[in-house]
Amino acid sequence: MAGGIGSRFWPMSTQKFPKQFQDILGTGRTMIQQTYDRIQKAVSAENIYVITNQEYVELTHQQLPDIPFQNIVGEPVMKNTAACNIYMINKIADVNKDANVIVLPADHLILKESAFIEKVNLAFDFASKNEVLITLGITPTRPDTGYGYIQFAEKNGEDFYKVKTFTEKPSLEIAKSFLETGDFLWNAGIFVWNVNAIHKAFEKYLPEMTQEFVACEYNSDQEKVCIETIYPKVEKISIDNGILERAQNVYVIPSDLGWSDLGTWTSVYENSEKNDNNNSLDSKSVLTYNAKNNIVRLKKGKAAIIDGLEDYIIVDTDKALLICPRKNDQMIKDYVLDLKNFK
Ligand code: GDD
Ligand code: MG
Repeated sequence: MAGGIGSRFWPMSTQKFPKQFQDILGTGRTMIQQTYDRIQKAVSAENIYVITNQEYVELTHQQLPDIPFQNIVGEPVMKNTAACNIYMINKIADVNKDANVIVLPADHLILKESAFIEKVNLAFDFASKNEVLITLGITPTRPDTGYGYIQFAEKNGEDFYKVKTFTEKPSLEIAKSFLETGDFLWNAGIFVWNVNAIHKAFEKYLPEMTQEFVACEYNSDQEKVCIETIYPKVEKISIDNGILERAQNVYVIPSDLGWSDLGTWTSVYENSEKNDNNNSLDSKSVLTYNAKNNIVRLKKGKAAIIDGLEDYIIVDTDKALLICPRKNDQMIKDYVLDLKNFK
């Protein structure tokens, strides 16, 4: 899934050039390239699909030349992640009616790659034998309101827990109470299922959307036109709210992956090197005095002096400047909506 615009990550991520196509951590590979590098150890290139906005199909192809071009699928409108999932389930089931599928966000950091591949293979095995929806779960470290929270129940074998409740993006108060109980995990947003199991869940919980998508002839000349007629009509809802919060056959695999959703400036702050005062700076031309716990990203070649600032995000690009307390990093998504004519 690579169709988001990463608006919490503004102004580095913009509608023209979203974060999944950028090398955010300076590793030499963009986020989507890192996602590809990782998953092609478990799934061969011809079975990897990317679903993104029509606007980014060419960019995806440039960054991932080994994926067959017809596997890079463009959506006409952004409808969040339920629509892109039911679309791809239909398209993949048309090629293999018993396919097991892993769904990956295009913008995550996973440091422990072999642990990740091990969990993926475990999940594929479980999904091929049971009618279940599987998600990878991460031990939470803070009451972050940007994640889904999974309350797990009894253990099912060594590696799986049955999910009792799934709460997408709770309020801070509720997230804090979840953390206190100790029986919650973060939803990593990485899902594994058999096409039949997930299709049944869509039929049950999002029947109207499912009905719309059944009508298309996939992998034919008609697919594009059919999809273009459906998309404007379907509900804009995430797969987390639409399916995972409602389904009763969800299982979680607790996973220690060195995982991070590089979704906000705070997550980049946490995953980057810091100076003695815990400032994350990406240039020697940024000088700090009486300043701590800040993240500063400037256009290359610029200098800055920062005095007396704590816990702030400062990001300066060619076109925009952001100055925001780190605690409000989730709000950037809403602030950007107010900048109506800015692209
Ligand atoms: N094709 C397509 N179309 N992709 C989309 C769309 C869309 O309309 N909207 C978002 N995506 C892609 C994003 O590019 C990203 O790779 C992935 O889907 C997830 O979307 P996010 O917008 O990043 O979701 P989130 O981070 O708020 O929440 C999800 O991930 C968290 C963990 O990172 C949820 O699954 C949470 O429950 C989870 O904790
Ligand atoms: Mg995300």
